[in-house]
Amino acid sequence: MKIVRFMFSAMMTLLISAAYAENPIAFGPYIQNITDGSAIICWSTYKTEVGIAGPDGGKTKKLYDHHELPLTRLKHDTEYSYDVLRDGSEYGKGTFKTFPEKIEPFSFVVYGDTRSDSVIHQKIVDLAIKEKPRLVINTGDLVASGLEIDDWEIFFDVNRQLMKNVPYYPVLGNHEKDADYYFEFFNLPGNERYYEFFVGDVLFLMLDSEGSDFGKPEYVKNDDYYWSNYQKDYFEEQREWVENMLDLHKDAGYVFAFFHKPLISLMSRRAPGSKQHRAFWAETFEKHDVQAVICGHDHHYHRAQSDEGLTMITSGGGGASLYNTDITSPETKLHKKVNHLIRVDVGENEATLKVIDIEGNEIETFTLPKRKPYRQRRN
Ligand SMILES: [Fe+2]
Repeated sequence: MKIVRFMFSAMMTLLISAAYAENPIAFGPYIQNITDGSAIICWSTYKTEVGIAGPDGGKTKKLYDHHELPLTRLKHDTEYSYDVLRDGSEYGKGTFKTFPEKIEPFSFVVYGDTRSDSVIHQKIVDLAIKEKPRLVINTGDLVASGLEIDDWEIFFDVNRQLMKNVPYYPVLGNHEKDADYYFEFFNLPGNERYYEFFVGDVLFLMLDSEGSDFGKPEYVKNDDYYWSNYQKDYFEEQREWVENMLDLHKDAGYVFAFFHKPLISLMSRRAPGSKQHRAFWAETFEKHDVQAVICGHDHHYHRAQSDEGLTMITSGGGGASLYNTDITSPETKLHKKVNHLIRVDVGENEATLKVIDIEGNEIETFTLPKRKPYRQRRN
């Protein structure tokens, strides 16, 4: 009887309203998957709105239709403007520039863990816009919960002015929760879980530290569990793919790899997992002279360098509350508990990385040399 009463009190009423009429665009438009000859314009429109009432009050949930317009046969290094509405309003307008065909200097911006403070996230986005990057990378944990449409609504609202003009390349974080929304809203190369793209002779390796079995109980219980258990096949497969990419693109001038979880952590509760992550991956990157592995997950800025010369960066200061550290590492070059982004200028002979705090102040600037030609590297 108790159960029946509970069921009645929790019973929800469902109200379906008319489709959202005002501005038909809900998310976007935004640019995805640019190459030197193609791009994809994405946007979502309101489909309908559902009112839900229960013992804890009322709530409205919106449903969306997602749209993608692939554009091919574009000219390289060329600006295009578009308008997905053509109704005289600004909502549907944007401008993007295809990637260069040849090797030439360009800049990109990196930050991550934007998930839970939209005010800070907005400031980071505004800073990123000022830097006029060719592309933006998010090191994961874009939203507080990838399963909640409300969180994606905030994410796309905050990013509206940036993403309509600049292609956005994320990696999966644990907070994405392997949700369908992530794969629906982003159109990324390859299998979208891990993928690569090029700008000139710069190879970007966008990798997955979370795994495809994220929702399994063992993972939830212990997020390091996968290293010795069922996730191992997935990571071995991914590492083989990375090895193939690095073999195939031996002549790339620069290689930047991105994960959500860092290869080194200054938090004792996370250090064992990071050690396993690093033990699995670092040799691959060191062997191939990858310039830097840039990650998120720990909410601060941390730059470290291995004895083998691998630069390991944690950039997780995009909006989630900042973390304290409780251990140190002799490999640390700089650590700062700060909201920030990284601007990377890829030049002819070196890449310059400038770390900028949320007020626009420089935290540090350092350079990473271009890779030597493959034959010289092996001698
Ligand atoms: Fe995370």
